[in-house]
Amino acid sequence: MSKVIVLASGKGGTGKSTVSVGLAVALVKLNKKVLLIDCDSGMRGVDLMLGVEKELIYDVSDAVGGGCDKSAAIYVTQNIFGLYMMPAALSADDEVSPSVLRQLIAEIKDDYDYILIDSPAGTGSGFEAAAAGADSALIVINPEPTSVRGCLNIRHKLSEMGIEDARLVINRFCPDRFRGMGLYKDLDQLIDISCTQLIAVVPEDVQIAAIAQRGETGQKTVPSMVAFRNLAARLEGENPPLAKKILKI
Ligand SMILES: Nc1ncnc2c1ncn2[C@@H]1O[C@H](COP(=O)(O)OP(=O)(O)O)[C@@H](O)[C@H]1O
Ligand SMILES: [Mg+2]
Repeated sequence: MSKVIVLASGKGGTGKSTVSVGLAVALVKLNKKVLLIDCDSGMRGVDLMLGVEKELIYDVSDAVGGGCDKSAAIYVTQNIFGLYMMPAALSADDEVSPSVLRQLIAEIKDDYDYILIDSPAGTGSGFEAAAAGADSALIVINPEPTSVRGCLNIRHKLSEMGIEDARLVINRFCPDRFRGMGLYKDLDQLIDISCTQLIAVVPEDVQIAAIAQRGETGQKTVPSMVAFRNLAARLEGENPPLAKKILKI
């Protein structure tokens, strides 16, 4: 059965798009057929990370508005066989509504093993639309208090929408910085305050940032890809270590 997962965060810039792409690539390497839908209307970026920006004609707003056939807004990424993407609308004015996106996902869901939905930050209408067709959520935070608070806000919103299956991804983790900040006794304390079960810790990784900017995310082996591989394996029901080295703090 296919899984539809929304990537969410209360606070902007925690790494939702980066984690969406990294996870999508890792799932494809497990031979899964994956569709990544960018739902960040007006701020789309997944196309750049996947290097398909020049080919785009139609987007999610065309697919739900009858401006094109649904399949015309789904692009095959050149470098990563098995990874499909649907771009967000270029303008925030073309934001789609929750009901039409839910309908779209219901229609195409069976064609994929995974549909990952990259959402805008916060709990506004854009997020509501992005989450409408999802069965579960990955909440991407950075290890600091405003981001943790954002996680609680997202959990609340997801609950209102009937989505209780939410897991925590701690992104941009750097042991020295975490210790140096002295805000939490340890990572367990941060996880407790988040009230959300941990599924991955992704290290701060200057390579993933640079590679994503160049639109080459899928081509290189970088330290954070190990975390994405483990995240993909966990979604598949396996139990790889939760980045042991990182947690030893
Ligand atoms: N694990 C990481 N290590 C280093 N930089 C990261 C990591 N994850 C994300 N970034 C950087 O953080 C910035 C915001 O990431 P992005 O994925 O666009 O966040 P969001 O989609 O939540 O707004 C980008 O410059 C990205 O390259
Ligand atoms: Mg983003």
